[in-house]
Order: sequence, then structure tokens, then C-alpha cells
Amino acid sequence: MATLFIGQTKVFLPETDSTNSYAIELLKNVNAIEGTVVHTNKQTQGKGQRGNGWIAEPEQNATLSIILRPDFLSSKKAFYLSKITALALHDVLTEILNDSQFDIKIKWPNDILVNRKKIAGVLIENSILNDSLQWCVVGIGLNINQEDFGALKQATSIRLLNKKTCNVESVIDTLFMHFEKWYLRLKRSEFAVIDETYLTHLFGTKALNTFEKDGKQFRATVKGVNETGLLLLETESKEIRTFDVKDVTFIYPASA
Ligand code: BTN
Repeated sequence: MATLFIGQTKVFLPETDSTNSYAIELLKNVNAIEGTVVHTNKQTQGKGQRGNGWIAEPEQNATLSIILRPDFLSSKKAFYLSKITALALHDVLTEILNDSQFDIKIKWPNDILVNRKKIAGVLIENSILNDSLQWCVVGIGLNINQEDFGALKQATSIRLLNKKTCNVESVIDTLFMHFEKWYLRLKRSEFAVIDETYLTHLFGTKALNTFEKDGKQFRATVKGVNETGLLLLETESKEIRTFDVKDVTFIYPASA
């Protein structure tokens, strides 16, 4: 595989509760090296954002966690790990969904949408020591061959879009390549290119969308993300407001 360190050490588990939880245990119990990937075919208690779960049909999808030791990054810049993960997923999908009809977007903070439906989710867990990131677990769920998402109407997969089965291992290898490319850019402090590319692919910058804060809905346009990862929104009254991921919900865009 054409990477230097991402995925060069792999822990494959036929079944586990959560690859993120397993990776965190690995970090606590053995000196897991940077780039180690924990990968499973069957995740029974996948963790999602905001305490939600992540359900993925066994053997059909990518459910994996990448262990990083980004001690070069100050904790104030931790959101860059979310940005590069979203950009790596964007690049993988651009390569595999080789068709201009697919509108691939990053929904803040790091969901990936294709034609307004969610195809991938990311859960990053990290440990901070003396203001720098001691370790980081990047958990990625990417829908590859799953066709039925039950009640989740706003979900899609590579197979549903491309209308053919896709080799899960080769998608994962492509993901490792793009992830390593973006991680190395981050290591070289190429913040401007990361910021610009992230903004280019950000969903909701062209039109008003619905958001919810404290049970109240409002309409706003996405203006960008600040250095610490706060979302900048322009409300209908042209006021610019910043929001933390804990405080605001991006109401799922209705399908086009
Ligand atoms: C989201 O809510 O969108 C984030 C979902 C993240 C799911 C992935 S699957 C692999 C890794 N292990 C977990 O328990 N969660 C992440």
C-alpha cells in the first residue's frame, strides 16, 4: 500500500463494540504507534457525534479508527484534525464517484454529504497534555455497499450512487492515502490550503439553511469556520454569529 505510516500497522477485529473505544484502550495499554488503524467488519455499539450511535451493516462499510500522535499541534488548533479528515473523505469520494452529477459537500463539522445525503461520519476523540495533543483517535464510518438504511432517509452509500458493488478494502486503502496526504500538509503547517479547500467544499455557503439553537429554529447562511472550529453564520438580518458544535444543530437539508 502506498502510504508511509497510515494503516501500515493494522489491528483487524472481526467484531468489536466500537473501533474508537478499542483504539483508546490500545493507547492506554500498549504504546500504539502513529498511523495504527483499528478496523472491524462488525461494529456492535458504534459511537456517533453528540452521544448518538452509528449503525453500519456488517462487512458492507468502512468502520475504522486511525491513531495519531499530533504533538506538533496546539490544542487550540485541534479542529484542523476534523478539517483534514473531512478533506480526505471528500477526495476519496471525488476519486470513486467519478461523475460530475455528484455534489460532494462537507457539512460542518465533518459529515460528508453527496447530493445532500450523508455518506460518512467522523468521531474524533483526543487527549490534551500541556496544551498540545497527546493522542487522537479519528473514527470514520463510510457507507460503501449498504443499500438499506431503514428509517434513515437522508443516508446514502457509494453503491447506491455508483449502482455497483465496490471493493471495501480498496476504498479503505484510498482513504489512507488521502488521509496521510492531508495529515502531512497539516504537519507542515499548510493551514491556508487546508482552510481554503475546506471552505470551498463546505455545505450551506450559497443559500439560507435551517439551524436550531435552544429549541428555536432560524435561517442562516454559512460564512465559514474560525480557527477553533466555531461555525460562522450570517442570519437573515445580516448579523454574523458564531456557534459551537454543542449549541447549534444544522437541520438536515431536505433532499433536492
Ligand atoms: C457521526 O455521528 O456522524 C459520527 C459517526 C462516527 C462513526 C465511526 S465508525 C468507526 C468509529 N468507531 C466508532 O465507534 N465511531 C466511529
